[in-house]
Amino acid sequence: MNYVLGIETSCDETGAAIVKEGRKVISNYLSSQVPIHGTFGGVVPEIASRQHLIHITRMVNRVLKEADCEPDAIAVTQGPGLMGSLLVGVNFAKAFAWSKKIPIIPIHHIEGHIFSSMLLEKSPDFPFLSLVVSGGHTMLIECKVPHHYTIIGNTRDDAVGECFDKVARILGLPYPGGPSIQKSADNGNPRYYSFPQGLANSNSLEFSYSGLKTAVLYKVREVPENERSTQWVSDISASFQWSAIDVLVTKTKMAIKKTGMKRLVVAGGVSANALLRKRLTEELDIDVFLPDFKYCLDNGAMIASAGYYRLMNGYSADFTFTANPSISLNE
Ligand SMILES: Nc1ncnc2c1ncn2[C@@H]1O[C@H](COP(=O)(O)OP(=O)(O)OP(=O)(O)O)[C@@H](O)[C@H]1O
Ligand SMILES: [Mg+2]
Repeated sequence: MNYVLGIETSCDETGAAIVKEGRKVISNYLSSQVPIHGTFGGVVPEIASRQHLIHITRMVNRVLKEADCEPDAIAVTQGPGLMGSLLVGVNFAKAFAWSKKIPIIPIHHIEGHIFSSMLLEKSPDFPFLSLVVSGGHTMLIECKVPHHYTIIGNTRDDAVGECFDKVARILGLPYPGGPSIQKSADNGNPRYYSFPQGLANSNSLEFSYSGLKTAVLYKVREVPENERSTQWVSDISASFQWSAIDVLVTKTKMAIKKTGMKRLVVAGGVSANALLRKRLTEELDIDVFLPDFKYCLDNGAMIASAGYYRLMNGYSADFTFTANPSISLNE
């Protein structure tokens, strides 16, 4: 079971990859729909699923040609995500597995994100704590053994990536919000405004991001449109980014103390954030595993890696499973 083909279609990226023994990426391609959804300021589900249909065969043919090998198994994102988008990947993968007579492994999208660190030159051993920060999730997860997860912290409302996207929209910055806020914040003063940090002072590991987003909205409304200079947008971006990231660092430190874990695996799109990466690397005295930039966002390689390890640990599936937009991590 050396080569696993990974398919990812949970949201707005059609990803396909071939990974050798769960760790070495042989070929990896992504078709991003950002320019298409960007004009709407967010992902339009119906358009996303149609785009996956258009691109999936081309993406898979491309990785197969480049890798020049027959995959021994196929792994596919089962959920969570957008139903229409997931269905395209799952049905494609089932047809592929059936025609090639190879095993199929359904993967939870968040498990996939966590396994993006297995693609690092120096990958983490178990047990570890995982900070999952993405468009739909903000979680602290204890991972003691492979494929068993204990969620010890979660968001009560918005996810951190979702908050970046909403604040960017409020500030008139392009979609997706994370990279555009980070870019604008580079020239700004993080102490220009002091924004609230949801639940930062509570003893719990829960997060809350809706108050921060609303605080930015109210501040923006106080400043007339003709007085909103590029410098002001940078200052408000930097102040927002500081608050959004600071609470992640605080709660991660708290979780390390509570669990006694000696390794931290960061996962999900927001793990591309430069301030988060810098602070975690500089301020924690445990091993921190940050995925390569190209594997922070959704991709097929992380799904292939998770699939390989699941197969090695005795998991497989028949063809009765289906896409599940709200599947839980331990299902
Ligand atoms: N540099 C960055 N700083 C902050 N946020 C970022 C950065 N780059 C990307 N993001 C955010 O990452 C999110 C996308 O990540 P990802 O693709 O993992 O999310 P998703 O797949 O939509 O959600 P989920 O993985 O929870 O299902 C977006 O919200 C985007 O704004
Ligand atoms: Mg994702």
